[in-house]
Amino acid sequence: MAIRNVRTDGNPVLREICKKVPEVSDSIRKILDDMMETMYEKDGVGLAAPQIGIPKRMVVIDDRDGHVFKLVNPVIVKSEGEQLSQEGCLSVPGYRGRCKRPMKVTVQALNELGKEIVFDAEGFLAVICCHEIDHLDGILYKDKAVEYERVNDN
Ligand code: NI
Repeated sequence: MAIRNVRTDGNPVLREICKKVPEVSDSIRKILDDMMETMYEKDGVGLAAPQIGIPKRMVVIDDRDGHVFKLVNPVIVKSEGEQLSQEGCLSVPGYRGRCKRPMKVTVQALNELGKEIVFDAEGFLAVICCHEIDHLDGILYKDKAVEYERVNDN
């Protein structure tokens, strides 16, 4: 595994519509492993492939509450309710903000073995899923933030 360089706001790869992964191959699993390692190294709760310069539809998530996912071609197939989130992004260092997000989503994806999975995510995990899947369509949380502010911590 390797820690990859995280691209920051202004890099055009963050604005690409990412391509679907046709097959979950060993090279895709290697990228997912690198994404996990990079996410942990940066103390993030999620990371999308375009953030390491790869415009493919892949995300990794660890909400630090027992929910860990490597997702290929993830899609939100259902959403309910609304919440005001607290968000930051490894690609937008030094800022945080709040967005309107669904309270609960159902996500469909392939796992790292290429098997289809479907799961429900609520609360903070729903926010992470929405934030990371937005990255695959070139959307940053700051684009939809209802509040957005500079912070000192990075
Ligand atoms: Ni992000």
